[in-house]
Amino acid sequence: MPRALESEKATLEGMAPLEKGPPVQPSLVSPHHDDPLPLYRIPSLLVEESFEKMKDLKPFSLLLNQEDVEECDWLEHLAFDSIEAASREKIEYRLAVCGELCSGIFSSAYTTTSTPLGALIRSRKFPSIDSSDSDRKRILLGHIIATKHRHRTVTDDSMDFPSNWRTKYQLSPSTGHDEDGETVCLHSLAVHPDFQNQGLGKVLLLSWVQRIRDSGTGKRIALLCRERLVPFYERSGFKSLGPSKAQYGGGGWVDMIMEFGQDRNDDGF
Ligand SMILES: CC(C)(COP(=O)(O)OP(=O)(O)OC[C@H]1O[C@@H](n2cnc3c(N)ncnc32)[C@H](O)[C@@H]1OP(=O)(O)O)[C@@H](O)C(=O)NCCC(=O)NCCS
Repeated sequence: MPRALESEKATLEGMAPLEKGPPVQPSLVSPHHDDPLPLYRIPSLLVEESFEKMKDLKPFSLLLNQEDVEECDWLEHLAFDSIEAASREKIEYRLAVCGELCSGIFSSAYTTTSTPLGALIRSRKFPSIDSSDSDRKRILLGHIIATKHRHRTVTDDSMDFPSNWRTKYQLSPSTGHDEDGETVCLHSLAVHPDFQNQGLGKVLLLSWVQRIRDSGTGKRIALLCRERLVPFYERSGFKSLGPSKAQYGGGGWVDMIMEFGQDRNDDGF
């Protein structure tokens, strides 16, 4: 046996045997920081524990673009009340001008699959995952749709969009996506109602936050949420700033924020 392997064997033999202890309740928030742990820093045991419920779905994440408008519009209106859901044109606008800020979490299956995914595929038309296997459908189970804005929090102007966006592109319009803005505004986090409470929302949010943070796209992420979801976002590293002035969808929102560049240590988080 090579010398390096021999010394590794001796080290392993000297270690106490692994025991199966009580189930670990994972916290995805660093004990020393309010920021969430990057997914690549979470021990695989915790990842498996946390995402056990969704493992049969074999979810995968992709950036969204204009070709996903149909699917995002469908999902948005399933997940949100009509007063809160973004209109189809607003979704189209956001995916057209800044699709790179948006993410989808998908699964795939065949119409013959005898699971809730199979039943879903039989209920409407889904795009094929691959042109070489047109029977295998790609199912959008969750999405995050975002834009950038100059204001530190999400405002009614950032929730809106310019009426002439199809004919006149503007880099920094007063409403909608501002390419020079330093706040990434998360406008929609939605998970298909039949697949909620399986961890999809959490994994989509954490992986998206990590991508936005690591890419240096902005200085912070801001969002509006209902009071009941404040703990959900706090567990992912956001802080509550209290009641928002935004009147979108009848108002009554809480401002949530995650500042980048603060409390960062040498490990980069
Ligand atoms: C909010 C939402 C995205 C969460 O997605 P999900 O896949 O169901 O969430 P997860 O399974 O990852 O659950 C994460 C946690 O949030 C909690 N949670 C989920 N939905 C909740 C709700 N409506 N109210 C309170 N807590 C909720 C879960 O109990 C879970 O808690 P845990 O970490 O202690 O287990 C999803 O419920 C949804 O699409 N809701 C409708 C649209 C919406 O309100 N979006 C948020 C806009 S601000």
